[in-house]
Amino acid sequence: MKFIILSDIHIGSKKQVPGRTPVDSLHAAVAHINERNADAELCILLGDLTETGSDEEYAALKEALRPLPMPCRMIIGNHDEREGFKRAFPETPVDAGGFAQQVFDAGDFRFVLLDTYWPGNGGGILDGGRLDWLEAQLSAADKPCLLFLHHPPFDSGVPGFEALRLEDRPALQSLVAAHAEKVRALFSGHCHMTVSATVAGRPAFGMRSLFYQIPQDFVNPKLKGSDTAPPAYGVVLTNGTDLTVHSVDFDLPAA
Ligand SMILES: [Fe+2]
Ligand SMILES: [Fe+2]
Repeated sequence: MKFIILSDIHIGSKKQVPGRTPVDSLHAAVAHINERNADAELCILLGDLTETGSDEEYAALKEALRPLPMPCRMIIGNHDEREGFKRAFPETPVDAGGFAQQVFDAGDFRFVLLDTYWPGNGGGILDGGRLDWLEAQLSAADKPCLLFLHHPPFDSGVPGFEALRLEDRPALQSLVAAHAEKVRALFSGHCHMTVSATVAGRPAFGMRSLFYQIPQDFVNPKLKGSDTAPPAYGVVLTNGTDLTVHSVDFDLPAA
């Protein structure tokens, strides 16, 4: 099985990135996927779909995703807005608490998508029963689980970025440790950089943004806006229950 990961599109962002807007980048990524990876079974979007969570931004996102031949599953990030997202994508499952969390099977895996949205905060949180929901999913799982969440479940080592971390990361790490035999890998966005880590010994991947990247500055306590690294999307290849994770640079169309 092959699946695609798109992260941190930030539709509506006014950030000045030479040569592209968020919609330009999404169009280029979709064209690249359709040319080279149209055989993927699934596309996962890792949040920060939009910049402010407005209805107009979600409408633009929906329109730009339309040419993709495979189904899309989405989670939200700190730049989204849960109710606006739910209005725009009413088919997206929610849990009993109304959080945009869902679980489904594809290939040999159970996909577990988490909602780390914390209104008014750039960091993430898993309060309100969201961790209990995860615990229940992992306890019930009868196949290897892939976890997806916007905020990384690991310390990036980039101090400026860590100010925006997942608040209850230690509790999540404990939960992964308790179900380590069922958690095959974790995927996150938010970091706007390609980074690999382990969480309770399980592999974890941070994905680059479709729009702008965060400098991998291991000293500066302040987050600098962006660097010149190109946008990328993820391609995950599965071989049984093993995974190969690619970060794919895509060229922008000529102006
Ligand atoms: Fe982001
Ligand atoms: Fe984010």
